Amino acid sequence: MKSFEKLLLENKAWAGEQLENDPEYFIRLAKIQQPEFLWIGCSDSRVPANEITGTQPGEIFVHRNIANMVVHTDLNLLSVLAYAVEHLKVKHVIVCGHYGCGGVKAAMSHHNLGIINKWLRNIKDVFRFHERELLNIQDEELRVNRLVELNVQEQVLNLAKTSIIQKAWKNENRPHLHGWVYGLSNGLLKPVFDMPPGSPLEHIYEYDDL
Ligand code: CO
Repeated sequence: MKSFEKLLLENKAWAGEQLENDPEYFIRLAKIQQPEFLWIGCSDSRVPANEITGTQPGEIFVHRNIANMVVHTDLNLLSVLAYAVEHLKVKHVIVCGHYGCGGVKAAMSHHNLGIINKWLRNIKDVFRFHERELLNIQDEELRVNRLVELNVQEQVLNLAKTSIIQKAWKNENRPHLHGWVYGLSNGLLKPVFDMPPGSPLEHIYEYDDL
């Protein structure tokens, strides 16, 4: 059997199992989704949002990209964010990085990776903002992991800089923004930063006509 054929077979088995447990399962899920959470995570195959949080289909709206970035010119991310906040009315947005992130490691290197350079540039900027702290860390692995944490913090701040979040904070007192880091070696999520609705932001980023 080819590897992709196994996926289709497993899918059949899974769908059958769901129906056995609950004959209405798919009928109910097909009608509506009301997730309470938006997850912005890394594309890394080892960090699946549902599995590591024990959540089911329908519970988390998910966006993933290399190194869980919130880039203010990324139409994909912004569309997901607008839909989740304005239509699904999520109560929490979680940016989830992970220790040992290959994207963060690559951004700390000086390798030319072609088109990927453009994406990693955003992480290099985070490095520059926190250069003094990072250069004080001698151990390379610890330095990568600290940048992973700082990157998550910076991406949460990037969310707060959008008019989408500021408008929802002002009018509906949600969503709560969270920055978490997942440990590949122990399976645990660690909260490293958070911004409840209405958190202060550097003044230059604030919109006053929302
Ligand atoms: Co990663």
